[in-house]
Amino acid sequence: MGERISVLIVDDSKQLRDSVRTMLEFEEGVVVVGEAEDGEEAVAKAKELRPHVILMDINMPKMDGLAATQAIVKDISTNVIIISVQGDADYLRRGMQAGARDFLAKPFTVDELVTAIKNACRTGELNALYTRSAPPTAKTGKLITFFSTKGGVGKTTLAANLAVALAIKTKEQVALVDLDLEFGVMTTMFGLKPNTSIVDLCHVDGPLKAELVQRVMVPSSNGLVSVLASPPSPEQSAEVDGDARMAKDRNYVGEILGLLKQTFSYVVVDTGTSFRDGVLTALDRADVIYVVTSPDIPTLHNTAKCLDILLTRLEYPRTKVKLLLNRADGTMGLSHDDITRGLDYGISYFVPSDGQTATWAANSGQPFVLRKAKTPLADLLVQMAQDLTESGQASTASSTEGAEEAAGRKGRKGIFSLLHS
Ligand SMILES: Nc1ncnc2c1ncn2[C@@H]1O[C@H](COP(=O)(O)OP(=O)(O)OP(=O)(O)O)[C@@H](O)[C@H]1O
Ligand SMILES: [Mg+2]
Repeated sequence: MGERISVLIVDDSKQLRDSVRTMLEFEEGVVVVGEAEDGEEAVAKAKELRPHVILMDINMPKMDGLAATQAIVKDISTNVIIISVQGDADYLRRGMQAGARDFLAKPFTVDELVTAIKNACRTGELNALYTRSAPPTAKTGKLITFFSTKGGVGKTTLAANLAVALAIKTKEQVALVDLDLEFGVMTTMFGLKPNTSIVDLCHVDGPLKAELVQRVMVPSSNGLVSVLASPPSPEQSAEVDGDARMAKDRNYVGEILGLLKQTFSYVVVDTGTSFRDGVLTALDRADVIYVVTSPDIPTLHNTAKCLDILLTRLEYPRTKVKLLLNRADGTMGLSHDDITRGLDYGISYFVPSDGQTATWAANSGQPFVLRKAKTPLADLLVQMAQDLTESGQASTASSTEGAEEAAGRKGRKGIFSLLHS
């Protein structure tokens, strides 16, 4: 954004207003345009000054911050960040429902404040862009789920980079959902530290709305993908799809994915390693499931069981389940044909091994398809994105089809027998 971000500070404490003003004084690109000491004054000043961002306290005389937020966002386009000592989930949820974009618990640092202001503006711009370019009818986006029952095979790495590759290819923002509900780290792949997560959506009483889902998501710094973070702590995963759910008869994950598919052309889902309810929903509703494996016997053995459940028990068609062999060039004695025969399944993509690039990207919070675009690893992800956009189904390499046929003819040999044959 070329112009500076204008900020209105709303708090009944003069000390707090002064300290925020001081914090923002030396911040280039941000300018404080006014202050208000109660909710009513906030509404009047917001309409008069039309600031990009309003920092809004909750407990104030005359009118509280939640009521003021509601009154402001129904009339003008701005980005409200609730600032409050009441940092609990209930206040966060009520703030979001009132129309706030973010929530900052007091006390906060200069960095946290400036990041929240910039993020709120970026989300606002992206939403405005989306509203402008939104087609009159809802989309029917494609849902792509990465899965494996073995940990550490590269699901998160590949999901993050495929989402970015799809966004670059389609020039549309892509949704990325972290359904590794206990230990998800998707936000770190983009260097994000969000205050919101999927849990906030699972505390909503009434029906979920696409706008609310968008507000809980965080855009990556380049705006290419919008990330729905996993819960901040493992035990909160039960509030999403387990026993601690607010309404036991609701499938929150199903509702969220349904709304995202109406909003985004592509929704990419990362998962953990279990068939928990939320993951099952993402598998059931997926247009494409990428099962990630790697060329070592324990992982392949595990993948054989995983494929069996997907194909036999869940009865997904083979066209929906695509196998990705990660670190494919480090096969350590197992040929690709051996692996295909052992699993009785064709490999759709062979992902090259490149620890340096993968680790650099994860550590710097920058997807390699953007920053290390000239690597074979990035090329492969770009190819996958191209295949997804070109056809209704992810393409299967011709060499792979041959291998699948071979597997069909010779029958399942069993992964362990490969080692000893
Ligand atoms: N093609 C690759 N070449 C080299 N290293 C890779 C490759 N893909 C992923 N890695 C590395 O493997 C490790 C595990 O990757 P990642 O976290 O994406 O796996 P995961 O399946 O999501 O794991 P978890 O099940 O724990 O969520 C990371 O250190 C990552 O950088
Ligand atoms: Mg992962």
